[in-house]
Amino acid sequence: MSRYREVYASAKRDPETFWAEAARDIGWYKVWDRVFDPYMGEYGRWFPGAECNTAYNCLDRHVEKGRGQQKALIYDSPVTRTTKAFTYAELTHEVATFAGALKDLGIGKGDRVIVYMPMVPEAVIAMLACARIGAIHSVVFGGFAASELATRIDDSKPVAIVSASCGVEPGRVVAYKPLLDKAIELSRHKPAHCMILQRPMLEAPLVPGRDHDWDEVVRDAKSRGRKAGCVAVAATDPLYILYTSGTTGQPKGVVRDNGGHMVALKWSMKNHYGVEPGEAFWAASDVGWVVGHSYIVYAPLLHGATTVLYEGKPVGTPDAGAFWRVIAEHRVAAMFTAPTAFRAIKKEDPRGELIRNYDLRAFRTLFLAGERADPETVKWAEEKLGVPVIDHWWQTETGWAICGNPVGLGMLPVKHGSPTVPMPGYDLHVLDEKGQPLPPGQNGTLALKLPLPPSCLPTLWNSSERFRKSYLSEFPGYYTTSDAGYRDEDGYIFVMARTDDVINVAGHRLSTGQIEEVVARHKDVAECAVIGVQDETKGQLPAGFVVVNAGVERDPKDIEAEVISLVRETIGPVAAFKNVMVVKRLPKTRSGKILRGTMRQLADGEPWKMPATIDDPAILDEIAQALRQRGAIRGAPPVPA
Ligand code: COA
Ligand code: AMP
Repeated sequence: MSRYREVYASAKRDPETFWAEAARDIGWYKVWDRVFDPYMGEYGRWFPGAECNTAYNCLDRHVEKGRGQQKALIYDSPVTRTTKAFTYAELTHEVATFAGALKDLGIGKGDRVIVYMPMVPEAVIAMLACARIGAIHSVVFGGFAASELATRIDDSKPVAIVSASCGVEPGRVVAYKPLLDKAIELSRHKPAHCMILQRPMLEAPLVPGRDHDWDEVVRDAKSRGRKAGCVAVAATDPLYILYTSGTTGQPKGVVRDNGGHMVALKWSMKNHYGVEPGEAFWAASDVGWVVGHSYIVYAPLLHGATTVLYEGKPVGTPDAGAFWRVIAEHRVAAMFTAPTAFRAIKKEDPRGELIRNYDLRAFRTLFLAGERADPETVKWAEEKLGVPVIDHWWQTETGWAICGNPVGLGMLPVKHGSPTVPMPGYDLHVLDEKGQPLPPGQNGTLALKLPLPPSCLPTLWNSSERFRKSYLSEFPGYYTTSDAGYRDEDGYIFVMARTDDVINVAGHRLSTGQIEEVVARHKDVAECAVIGVQDETKGQLPAGFVVVNAGVERDPKDIEAEVISLVRETIGPVAAFKNVMVVKRLPKTRSGKILRGTMRQLADGEPWKMPATIDDPAILDEIAQALRQRGAIRGAPPVPA
């Protein structure tokens, strides 16, 4: 029997007692004045008055309690053929030393530090070092290009940037340093310091006065025995800012606090993921995404588990058995990744033959998130691995699962296609356009009744107004998730699609509006539309439709290629923007709105209706024709319904 219903009900009945109880698993320098203050901030704040330190709870506390010799972090990098483990004592030493080095540069409480790093242990060390001294880190995913980094520099105004000379992608070394230099050139705000980790595959020239060599700085700090202690910060102080796609080119700076974040994440490790301290937990994501923040770095370490940092891919490093090797070698009890990774594996090894080469007896549960876990992928993984496969739904904004299947409380029956039920603290409603609750089975916007539970964003960095507008204004009293879905008769939630122009490409969140802004900058482009079309492996891929300026006689193929490189150079390779077609016109309503929804239905081969408000129906035929020429229509040719 699962304890879920009873636990969920107790959190709903008396949230303050519930979260105060959970907070006993965290070490505090000073306890809170109130568990929750509804009058603080945008919708209230958790644990005001309390003082704490996240790095202390992730590291020193475990050493003090006798876990010093247990592995804290295992770095497994097939792309560099390296495996290296850090015990809790060793990781504490490295973090305290690097924190000392940051302090020596004058960095302290409240200062921002951008971390633009590949998947190396130093990325984790840098994040925890910031937490240790009360600095606010902002990790920028390595697959983003210079101008995306520049936008984040200008918004967060970091005193320092921690980066590396290069990243290693299968078959190619990605030079990070030129991207960093370019970003600083583009940004109005200039960081005083850059700390550069020189990797042997490609070293980078350093800028005198601004750049510091990580190894030299750390060697020097160690020779002086320099270490920084844990600084007490307010539970409500920001731990980090993580930028995520909004509807425009300006990303949203999601703020995470220290206290509530620790409490929710620690609770989730045992109760949701069913993992015990001392066990190995592996989130195959990237520290640049929220999954990496929460479940590579903070939650497993808060819990005293061993976390795995994997610099590789599910396929090609070297084969589709890579995940099974990591699980077997490090005795992983539970793993977390995006469904797209499993679709990639399934494509290469449909019969799951490589699984048999590994001893997976320690492996108990697979968790999937980042995009909808399609039933076919879930069934395949269940059958081949013989363990429960748990879909769970969350967002950068929340930092932990909104809906899931709480393994630690006793698993509920799995329904394919559903991330199961709301986690304690989330009061989830399905609303119609007017904000009225919808009955089971009916699709609507998934909205969370305020207040949000601990760990969820209190606001956006430098932008409380945008926070209110983006999340709180559509349905007064609720936070809108911008996801649509329904609840079934058993209370299971089904998350079906976004209600905005955010798309999900290989588990990465991208805004089509943002891509459109970049495409529109091309000198020959008069107007454009970008939509997300279904893709077998990546879930969705962006596709662009471009109308060129009158009088432009160039070969459309050249324009298409230039537009593709413009997006790659501006947003980065992560946009996976490789499909662009020059068309004569875009389909619009009579009031001039581009019919992106209908274009997407066409591209996905879904049945579609001629919109009553369409300006010129012939344009849809032209779009269908362009898609057909590219072989870009899924399934059967669409038939107007
Ligand atoms: N630094 C630089 N470039 C990067 C990068 C990084 N950290 N991460 C990805 N890229 C590049 C890739 O090399 C690729 O470039 P290409 O166009 O030259 O091939 C591009 O960005 C797209 O990357 P990605 O989306 O990762 O596609 P992929 O084809 O390399 O791999 C998957 C596809 C499905 C195997 C991979 O996305 C994956 O493992 N995803 C699941 C896990 C995950 O990351 N989830 C995120 C949230 S949980
Ligand atoms: P991100 O902020 O990058 O984690 O992306 C969050 C978005 O990804 C959500 O708003 C959903 O649209 C989508 N998403 C994440 N997990 C799931 C899931 N389990 N099922 C359906 N959609 C998901």
